[in-house]
Amino acid sequence: MLFSPNNLFLRRLPGRLKYVFLRFGLHNLLGWIFFPMFWLSRMTQLGAWVARHRQVPFNDFPSAVFNYQKRYELYKFVLEREKLDGPISYLEFGVAAGDSFRWWAAQNQHPDSRFHGFDTFTGLPEDWGLFKKGDMSTGKQIPEMNDARCQFYAGLFQQTLPSFLRSTPLTHRRVIHLDADLFTATLYVLTSLHPYLQSGDILLFDEFNVPTHEFSAFTDYCRSFYVQTEVLAAVNNYYQVAFRVL
Ligand SMILES: C[S@@+](CC[C@H](N)C(=O)[O-])C[C@H]1O[C@@H](n2cnc3c(N)ncnc32)[C@H](O)[C@@H]1O
Repeated sequence: MLFSPNNLFLRRLPGRLKYVFLRFGLHNLLGWIFFPMFWLSRMTQLGAWVARHRQVPFNDFPSAVFNYQKRYELYKFVLEREKLDGPISYLEFGVAAGDSFRWWAAQNQHPDSRFHGFDTFTGLPEDWGLFKKGDMSTGKQIPEMNDARCQFYAGLFQQTLPSFLRSTPLTHRRVIHLDADLFTATLYVLTSLHPYLQSGDILLFDEFNVPTHEFSAFTDYCRSFYVQTEVLAAVNNYYQVAFRVL
């Protein structure tokens, strides 16, 4: 049988291919197809993921028009459905000028809530699609908030998050807003926060359907840590997605 596990030719084929690839440096010939193949592979995974997650309590899919303001409808839905008007520990990764951060601090007025915003405030630390390193910089300007519950941490997450987690107890229900766009930043945050996440916590993504970035970070994280989640809401064809940790 051709596809039998006892077929010696098939069992040896991956090893042979690897030998040829490494021995003859085929990366020199094939390097140019790396990104299209990688994108196609992750896009196929995203397509399969979307097909499995069509039944979502709040979902605009398929939506012909992209409307960034819809993310506020998603936040409102999640806030009401999950009763997030009580004390929360809100952590936002990727704050920039503070648009989404301000929304959450204004909507949740509980005096015990705490709002923590993380950003370089000097822009993206690496290229992201058509955006270049340094884009989205606020020129080190931190959003002005007239609210003692809010604090900002300037620098790379990779530098600010470890000491934050050592010194700050996340006592209330956690709402984690991932809006850093990048695979590296998103994966770093998810894996760092993993020991602190509990069932019922909320994860919000702002660019979820970018197959090689937030989507890849989320799926790699969930696979590696055996994390189960439930999709609560999605807008703009899964560009913004909200999850509850199970
Ligand atoms: C799309 S913007 C955030 C937008 C904001 N949440 C809003 O609602 O307008 C993405 C931000 O992520 C930040 N960022 C990306 N990777 C980072 C990292 N590793 N450490 C710190 N900040 C990062 C960038 O500096 C940028 O300001």
